[in-house]
Amino acid sequence: MKPRQIREKVYWMGAVDWDRRLFDSLIPLPDGTSYNAYLVEGSEKTALLDTVDPNKVDVLLSQLQDVAQVDYVVAHHAEQDHSGSIPQVLARYGNAKVVATPKAKGMLIDLLSIPADRFLTVEDGQTLSLGDKTLEFVYTPWVHWPETMVTWLQQDRILFTCDFFGSHLATTDLYVTDEARVYEAAKRYYAEIMMPFRRIIQRNLTKIAGYDVGLIAPSHGPMYDDPAFIVDAYRDWISDTPKNVVVLPYISMHGSTQRMVEHMVSALAERGVTVHQFDLAVTDIGKLAIALVDAATIIIGTPTVHVGPHPNVFYAACLANALRPKARFASIVGSYGWSSKAVEQIAGLIPSLKVELLEPVMCKGYPRKADFAALDRLAAEVAEKHKTLA
Ligand code: FEO
Repeated sequence: MKPRQIREKVYWMGAVDWDRRLFDSLIPLPDGTSYNAYLVEGSEKTALLDTVDPNKVDVLLSQLQDVAQVDYVVAHHAEQDHSGSIPQVLARYGNAKVVATPKAKGMLIDLLSIPADRFLTVEDGQTLSLGDKTLEFVYTPWVHWPETMVTWLQQDRILFTCDFFGSHLATTDLYVTDEARVYEAAKRYYAEIMMPFRRIIQRNLTKIAGYDVGLIAPSHGPMYDDPAFIVDAYRDWISDTPKNVVVLPYISMHGSTQRMVEHMVSALAERGVTVHQFDLAVTDIGKLAIALVDAATIIIGTPTVHVGPHPNVFYAACLANALRPKARFASIVGSYGWSSKAVEQIAGLIPSLKVELLEPVMCKGYPRKADFAALDRLAAEVAEKHKTLA
């Protein structure tokens, strides 16, 4: 795609990666992604804000072919999907400086071997004049690495946010057109990338609230010409209050756990609780992560393999522990043939979740009347606990 003008002397550049299906060898990308860079031409200096993933460097260099001079390359974030093409840009523009936080400078030297004398480090709140356009750098740590910052283009009221507010979405639309689609992609992005840093994001949101933003320009997905759309969504996602929702990831080998899960889901629904059920043998972990954003309770369903939980459950529990959702309660339902330590082992996998563990229900063999009664008791307890949310 060619550069596209978004304001006078401000251009979108970058690459749309329609076919990428996995990020960090971990995160599913059902809708592809984009690596957005932006060019700001002042009356005296020109700045390129972020670059692209190294596998798309040719796209960016081609977009820059008519740009005679780049004076600054702003690196909001050191991760290679944005920084990985900086060395090639610096090779083309021999006098260009990389503008970054001191932390980012160290990381870019470590990751990409960029020479130390090619950097201009900036402090929080520092400005950089391009002539008739002024960039202001605002530290926003932990969205989602410690070195991250955003750039405020004063004259055009654009906030360039890199990963912050991003969405993995390949599209030809420069701006949000299908709000429902972007909302889901942005929530998925928040869940997978940002959720562990929820409390710090609260502070970052407060910090940028002081700017009269007309356009949010992230480095993944479309831009937000109605910034309140994404800022309000973030405020909801990072709030401390979970919703009346249970997430139930489970796996079943011979049907016992499946039967318990079906009963549990029905018992919760009858009591007015919304449930999201995920079969870990086939689920998209991004969907599971999205559901974890709002859930007040996580119930894990597992059979017993030897004495412990099924390996897929290990994986899901480790993932939930790493994402640190705001759930307040957890429990476990499942089955075993002769003995089980699944409950103890799962409980040991989620130390980062600040949850109250509600009495689990483990049945021997196929569930019977007493097991269903125990599940009803657990469902009633969850519903009562959810009445205390606020
Ligand atoms: Fe899009 Fe953290 O890189």
